[in-house]
Amino acid sequence: MPALESRLWALNTPNTTYVVALDPHDGLRGIHWGRSLTAAQADSLRELPGAVRRSVSDGRDAVLDLAPASAFRYGVNGLQVRFADGTRDLELAFTEVVRTDRELTLVFTDGHYGLEVRTTYRTRADTDVIERSTSLVNRGAEPVEVIRADSATWVIPEREDYRLTQLFGEWGAETRINRTSLPYGETHLGSRRGHTSHQANPWAAIDDGTATESHGEVWSTALAWSGTWRLTAERAPTDRVAISVGFGHDPVSVALAPGETLETPVAAGLYATGGFAASAAAWHDYALRYVLPHPEELRPVIYNSWEATEFDISADNQAALAERAAAMGCELFVMDDGWFGSRVHDRAGLGDWHPNPDRFPDGLGPLIKRVHDLGMRFGLWVEPEMVNPDSELYRSRPDWVYHQPHRRRSEMRNQLVLNLARTDVAEWMHGRLDELLAGDEIDFLKWDMNRPFSEAGWPGAEDPDRLWFDHTRNLYRILDRLRADHPNLRIESCASGGGRVDFGILRRTDQVWTSDNTDAVDRLEIQEGFAQVYPAKVMGAWVTDSPNPFTRREVPLDFRFHAAMAGALAVGGDLLKWTEAESRRGAELVADYKRIRGTVQLGRRSPIRAGEIRGAQYGRGDETVVLAWRRSRRLGYRDPLVKLAGLESDARYRDERTGRIHHGAVLATHGLDLDLQPWDYASTMVELVRMP
Ligand code: GLA
Repeated sequence: MPALESRLWALNTPNTTYVVALDPHDGLRGIHWGRSLTAAQADSLRELPGAVRRSVSDGRDAVLDLAPASAFRYGVNGLQVRFADGTRDLELAFTEVVRTDRELTLVFTDGHYGLEVRTTYRTRADTDVIERSTSLVNRGAEPVEVIRADSATWVIPEREDYRLTQLFGEWGAETRINRTSLPYGETHLGSRRGHTSHQANPWAAIDDGTATESHGEVWSTALAWSGTWRLTAERAPTDRVAISVGFGHDPVSVALAPGETLETPVAAGLYATGGFAASAAAWHDYALRYVLPHPEELRPVIYNSWEATEFDISADNQAALAERAAAMGCELFVMDDGWFGSRVHDRAGLGDWHPNPDRFPDGLGPLIKRVHDLGMRFGLWVEPEMVNPDSELYRSRPDWVYHQPHRRRSEMRNQLVLNLARTDVAEWMHGRLDELLAGDEIDFLKWDMNRPFSEAGWPGAEDPDRLWFDHTRNLYRILDRLRADHPNLRIESCASGGGRVDFGILRRTDQVWTSDNTDAVDRLEIQEGFAQVYPAKVMGAWVTDSPNPFTRREVPLDFRFHAAMAGALAVGGDLLKWTEAESRRGAELVADYKRIRGTVQLGRRSPIRAGEIRGAQYGRGDETVVLAWRRSRRLGYRDPLVKLAGLESDARYRDERTGRIHHGAVLATHGLDLDLQPWDYASTMVELVRMP
């Protein structure tokens, strides 16, 4: 195996180093992604033997950081094109390096066809997350068909074994954790649905099979994109692993015109020691610092009226709910579906974004004023990308939906998807929403998207597959524009629950609707997966009625609240039916949450598992909060003590409720007695404050 040439670059983050180097074929080898190395140590890596144990192609089959489809590369390739004359293989030569303090761009060119490929790495002073993206510039005279342009291919360092962690799910059961030994060959995760999807979240982690919550090395990557995507984890028979991730799905391709540039979204990567909890905490930190638009702002306690009134909305019942919600301490009242057009059920009205004249004869103004007078902000549900065929919009613009000639227009929830890739549709959508927000009385939008694409065609378009990319790009543009023009507006991303949760949408929204399943027990599992990547601050969590409308399970009020307090707490039950005692207890728990929310939303999370107890610990400054839940005890055993993480051994901590003083060393080694009630569905919240 020929040695690596002198062209080697090292990138440093606070606790890690990432090293790439060119091989004699100008292949970009990822040669280190792990603990920090000095420049001399990184430099010495070039003397180590190459990336494959044995090669029959002079190293051209090595795992690469930039993986162009070319000779002897039979595995997954993150970069695939077809030139106008049918040539598919790329022959990329390294041409230039552009390096600034925190950014490295390596430029490669296919000399014959004039295709330039730029791959960029960005680091920051206070996170170990590395952001990568790739751009393709067509400097040739003919269009180039781009079949695959991944944002990044991450080479995982060689280990004895490899395990994949993924977040999988479906509607009402999103972001659940699955850990599985990584098989040989290619394992694809992704979405072909037009949005991020409930089925797979664009994140994955690799460890060597021995990592735990608190120990071990974890490599992970997240894609900041809300359209279709593909992530491939490939374990070669040589036992080398790479993860390639990017937007788009097979078999779509786009034509890159001469002079045109294709920019990929950001794929972020993280190497963490300290196990899955440390990895999750580093992702949260990154999201709070570099993704979310208002990092320090705490999310308000929302009341959402959907489960209470569904489509039976009236100005009176909304006002009555708003009164109860305000009395409970809620800070933002959201009127959900059913306020506009002829939307009195899910069969009509989508697309007609003006208040239903029968329900709101004087417009929304009086209700908004009532809500504001109650001291709450006002939010509204919209689903701008959709249309019911039974609507004024569809009757006047039937050509505005995705469709294909001679194919039916399949409906889901009686609706079709608007072709937001079209400039005129995007302009109309922005205009309608901007008009709705005029006067800045509406403080919050819940932006929903309730069905995936089907028959996704664009008759007459020159390059119809672009719709898969341009839909998402135009969605981002509209969100960005609305935010810029209405700086106090906050937005929740929803897609039938958690179908559009990713760092792309989170760059321009403030929180997400985690799942339509509001059953507190199911939520614990969904929330645990969500928390692998996304911070509690963005995780919308409602307390709803019991029995739960989705699962029919009966769960006590405290348990429901304590489960929802692990995220951005909201109330979504029919408060007009709650007893006085329930309302009073609800108000107490909302007040509890307001005291701890800074720590939950912005603090460091460590999961808790002790016997039958599940929970999470949050730490920020001097404050530690524990939320814990236990469905039932087994065999009459008492609950184990819960060991706390990250406390100072020599410090003492006061329990704000009981006044008891605990020693850090004892909490860490023996644990805290949560003193849960012996009965089923016990739960608690503990606030500990470090004593001066
Ligand atoms: C989706 C959302 C719900 C609700 C309904 C309204 O299912 O996830 O929260 O807004 O739409 O139709």
